[in-house]
Amino acid sequence: MSGTTSSGQTWEERYSEKEFAFGTEPNDFLVEVASKITNGDTLVLGDGEGRNGVYLASLGHRVVTVDLSPAGVKKSQQLAIERDVEIDAQVGDLKYFDLGIAKWDCIVSIFCHLPFALRTDVHQRVKTALRPGGQFVLEAYNKANIGRGVGGPQITELTVELSELEEQFAGYKFWVNRSIERNIVEGKYHNGMSSTTQFVAVKPIA
Ligand SMILES: C[S@@+](CC[C@H](N)C(=O)[O-])C[C@H]1O[C@@H](n2cnc3c(N)ncnc32)[C@H](O)[C@@H]1O
Repeated sequence: MSGTTSSGQTWEERYSEKEFAFGTEPNDFLVEVASKITNGDTLVLGDGEGRNGVYLASLGHRVVTVDLSPAGVKKSQQLAIERDVEIDAQVGDLKYFDLGIAKWDCIVSIFCHLPFALRTDVHQRVKTALRPGGQFVLEAYNKANIGRGVGGPQITELTVELSELEEQFAGYKFWVNRSIERNIVEGKYHNGMSSTTQFVAVKPIA
C-alpha cells in the first residue's frame, strides 16, 4: 500500500471509480470514540475520499484532511458539499506534509498504512503537532489480518501492531489500546472478519 492498493491499483485509479471505495459512512471505531475526543482543530491523515473528515466536520470539528490522491481529495470536497459541512481537504504526501507544532487538538489516522520508516517519522511528528491534552486516534490492520481476503495491506511492513504504538507513544495516556477481531463492512474493499489495532493516546499536559 502507501502509493498503491493491495491489489496493485494506484489510489488515484481506485478513487477515479464512481463508487466510494470505502463508502461514505465513517469508520466504526472513529464513531465509537468521537464523543470522547476534543471537538476542535482536527487533522485527518490519509483521508481518502473524505468519509471520516466529513463526519468529524458534521460534529463541529474544524477539519483539515490530507491525502496523496487528487481524485480522493476531489471526492472529499464533493462529499462535504453534499453533507453541507466545511473541510479543508488538501492533496499532500505525508512524507513532506508539515504537521506543524502544537497545532491540533486531535489527529486521526484510519487505515492510513505507511511503510515502517515513514510511519515512525509521521508518528514522531504527530507528537510534536498535538497540543497538550490532544489525542491521536488510529485504527489500522495488523499482521494477523494478512491472507484473510477481507481487505487491508498484505505486506507485513505496512501493518501496525499495538506494541509498536505503545513504544512510540510512551508517556502518553492510552484511552484505547487493543488488538481486536471485528467484522468490517466499509464499501467494496473492506469486508469481513478482520484483525485490527485500535489506539487512542493522549498527549501529557506538562
Ligand atoms: C486504505 S485507504 C484509507 C482511506 C481513508 N482513511 C478511509 O478510511 O476511508 C489509505 C489512504 O492512505 C493514503 N496514503 C497512503 N500513503 C500516503 C502518503 N504518503 N501521504 C498521504 N496519504 C497517503 C492513500 O492515498 C489512501 O487514501
